[in-house]
Parts: sequence; structure tokens; C-alpha cells
Amino acid sequence: MNRQLIQEIEQIDVPIDIMNIFSLDNYVSVITGGASGLGEAIAIGLASFGSHIVLLDMNTDGLNRVKKRIEALDRKCEVFVVDVTNWELITEARERTKEIFGYVDVLVNCAGMNIRKPVLEMQPAEFRKIVDIDLTGTFLCSKAFGEMMVERKSGSIINLASINAHIAMEKQAGYASSKGGIVQLTKVLALEWAKYNVRINALSPAHHKTPLVTELVKDAAWYNDLVSRIPLGRFGEAYEIIGPAVFLASKASSFMTGISLLTDGGWTAI
Ligand SMILES: NC(=O)c1ccc[n+]([C@@H]2O[C@H](COP(=O)([O-])OP(=O)(O)OC[C@H]3O[C@@H](n4cnc5c(N)ncnc54)[C@H](O)[C@@H]3O)[C@@H](O)[C@H]2O)c1
Repeated sequence: MNRQLIQEIEQIDVPIDIMNIFSLDNYVSVITGGASGLGEAIAIGLASFGSHIVLLDMNTDGLNRVKKRIEALDRKCEVFVVDVTNWELITEARERTKEIFGYVDVLVNCAGMNIRKPVLEMQPAEFRKIVDIDLTGTFLCSKAFGEMMVERKSGSIINLASINAHIAMEKQAGYASSKGGIVQLTKVLALEWAKYNVRINALSPAHHKTPLVTELVKDAAWYNDLVSRIPLGRFGEAYEIIGPAVFLASKASSFMTGISLLTDGGWTAI
């Protein structure tokens, strides 16, 4: 045993197919919130690297639009109209996915929303709604689709957290609490499922250009304040999430689990 370890330490083996570590050929990737924004970009990105795609969202028009974009890349795409707070609908989509594809390699928990209000103005029902969709939805979908990964002893889950999980800003009580919770949920899942070879990581973006940030862009003072905190001096493009997502989905990150990867234009370096 020790002799073999020492031999491995002394000779640096690099697999012959190292150039293919980002390949997602014939993967099946499930993406919640895939009908818009970062979920849409990630769906197109994973499909471009070879994956078939399953989309879960409540936005039927968006689902059908993104399905066409995936099929134009010669990949299969199934869509399910699902509210990520609804356990029955999630497990139905999981069972249909099992029937159609038989396995799932990747789950991206991208469904999310925000209500930006100071605590004194935020209603209890509004706070609960954010936590229910952003945090509980991530738990429910991870549990449902993770079960397939655990059985197969293979898989990668990517949870969309946020810069708001790492720093505090005003008007973000519900959202920051949910996203901070996602980072901790990611760590607990990583510990529980490492023995099944299922990796769970989070992406923590600062502001990328998607419909979620329209409210901020419309308010010049708010927008300028946010950009002033980003050393790269701009919001990210939606497609700039693709590289980090493919990295976490693929073998390229095979020794990483339980992390939160910031795509924040340098914000947290300050
Ligand atoms: N855009 C950013 O700057 C940014 C930054 C940090 C984190 N994020 C996170 O990335 C994820 C995607 O955000 P986005 O910017 O693409 O926003 P978006 O509004 O463009 O997309 C969110 C998607 O989630 C879907 N959704 C909302 N509630 C749902 C529910 N209950 N069930 C099923 N689907 C539901 C919406 O229909 C929509 O298609 C979110 O979790 C968000 O918090 C985004």
C-alpha cells in the first residue's frame, strides 16, 4: 500500500485524454430555472459541451424557447413545468427523466427570485416566499435528483448562491439569508454524498446581465453604486457563467466539492 502510494507520488501520471476533461458528451444535465437568464446560458453552455438537457421552470414560453435553442445544437431537450417549491411536481419530473434518459449526471439549481426591500418594509410572507423558492427549492431538487446520483455513485450538483452569500448589502434580508443558506447546504450535502462520489458545489455570482437585475439597471444611482464595487468595472455578461458552470459540471473539477466559486469581477478581493 505505502509502496504504491510512494510510487504514485514519485511519478506524476497525467491521463492520456486530459484534453477532454471539459467534455460533457452524452451527459444528462437537469437545470432548474432554465427558461431565462443564467439558467438559459448554462443550458446552452452545457449542451455546447455535449450534454442532453432537462429544463424545469414555471415559465412555459421560456421553456419552449430554450428547448428550441438546445435542439438546434443537436442535443435532446425535455422540459417540465415545475414550481421548485412543489415536491410532488419535482418528483414527477424526476421519474419522467428516469424513464426517458435513465440517469442524470448534473443538476444545476438555478431557479430563483428576489424581493429587494428594507426589513422594516418587507412583509413576513415576502421573506418566506424568497426562502421557499431560493433555499427550500434548492434542497428539494437536490434531494430528488441527487437520489438518482447517489444510486449510480456519480454526479455533480451546482447550486446558484450569490455574492450576497458572502457580503452584506441593504434590502437583501430574504435573498442573502437564502443564498448564505445555500452555501451551507452545499457543504453539508458535499459531506453526506462524498462517499457516493457525488460532488456538490456552489457558484456565487455578483451581477450578471439577466432579467433578475433589470430593477437595478433602471435605477442609475443603484447601478452606479454596484458597478463601483466591481474592480472589473462592469456587470458580467450572462454567458460569462458558462465557463465556471462547465468546469464544476465536468471532470475538470473532479477533486472539488463543497466550495462556493465566486464570479464577482473582483468584488471580494477588495
Ligand atoms: N443575474 C445575477 O446577477 C445573479 C447573481 C447572483 C445569483 N444569481 C442567481 O442565479 C439564479 C438565476 O438567476 P437569473 O439571473 O438567471 O434570473 P432570471 O429571473 O433570469 O431567471 C430565474 C428563473 O427562475 C425561474 N423561477 C422562479 N421561481 C421559480 C419557481 N418557484 N419554480 C421554478 N422556476 C422558478 C423563473 O421563471 C426564471 O426562468 C438565481 O438563483 C439567482 O439568485 C443571479
